[in-house]
Amino acid sequence: MSESTNPTPKEWVREAYGRTAQGKGSCCGPSCCSSDADSLIGLSEQAQAIGEKIGYSTEELAAVPEGANLGLGCGNPVALAELQPGQTVLDLGSGAGFDCFLAAQRVGPAGKVVGVDMTPEMLARARVNAETGGYANVEFREGDIESLPVEDASVDVVISNCVLNLVPDKEKAFREIFRVLRPGGYLAVSDIVLLRDLPDEIRNHPGVYASCIGGAIGKDEYLSLLRSAGFSAVEVVDEVDAGALLTCAPGPVSDLLRDFGLIDATGWAASIKVKGRKLDHEEIDDDDRDCCDAVLGCDGSRVRGVQQRKGCCTFGGLSAFLLAG
Ligand SMILES: C[S@@+](CC[C@H](N)C(=O)[O-])C[C@H]1O[C@@H](n2cnc3c(N)ncnc32)[C@H](O)[C@@H]1O
Repeated sequence: MSESTNPTPKEWVREAYGRTAQGKGSCCGPSCCSSDADSLIGLSEQAQAIGEKIGYSTEELAAVPEGANLGLGCGNPVALAELQPGQTVLDLGSGAGFDCFLAAQRVGPAGKVVGVDMTPEMLARARVNAETGGYANVEFREGDIESLPVEDASVDVVISNCVLNLVPDKEKAFREIFRVLRPGGYLAVSDIVLLRDLPDEIRNHPGVYASCIGGAIGKDEYLSLLRSAGFSAVEVVDEVDAGALLTCAPGPVSDLLRDFGLIDATGWAASIKVKGRKLDHEEIDDDDRDCCDAVLGCDGSRVRGVQQRKGCCTFGGLSAFLLAG
């Protein structure tokens, strides 16, 4: 808890997912925002059904340790990422490790998967699952997506499933993702975005926030923040209405959503699959590279990031240096 008496959105999230990790009901995730533990009957069957609904094959659902899939996702970023053997993958908000384990099977023993999560109970659960499943190439780190415990330019692919909507400072998060990707690396995430504004009463409700709704931002803003962070080829590969997906089990969150006519309604939120690339050096225009290299001594991707954020070489190298700070 922070020193302030009012819990912050991150604390709402950590608390909700801590309870979920311990099987005490709750939460969050698009399809289970009840706060009543007793109402979560047949959680694993529910998780299985959600998994099928959001794009996992029967084989994938059967290929992970029991309890790794908690039904908290809103898509299948592993399939979206088209992973190759030998790649290093970073899963943001890895939960109980579901997507990490699927990714580990795709990248094989020559590859590596790192899951980052800020909720200790989720990490504990993920680590037990890794041990149970014998996943030697998966590591779980405690950390905040706004300040990733990951080296610069060390990751080939960043995946994430229904998590970035929960991060308060998305600009910071996207810049962090760009920083840890190697030049030529890419991002493949599933997430919830809003298609229209929601009242503050909804957005600022702790349970609604933890249910992947309150912290979500508009689709255009989301894509524009990714581009500003430096990503190229930003593309929404798939989009489905999330109204039904966000339907909640009985509880205060569903009561509130019902009051505002959002239960089962369409047209107010979407689950999107997004990709974006960090260009490598060769993809940067020669002119730009010469100009920026001369001043910044930076790699191509940083040049691109600076260019997109600050207008880099269009102002000349010195300006780029000063603006990049
Ligand atoms: C909706 S769950 C998704 C879990 C997992 N991706 C899955 O599909 O099963 C969100 C997860 O993100 C984590 N999380 C939320 N905000 C975070 C942040 N700022 N930094 C790190 N982890 C975060 C939560 O602790 C939780 O485990």
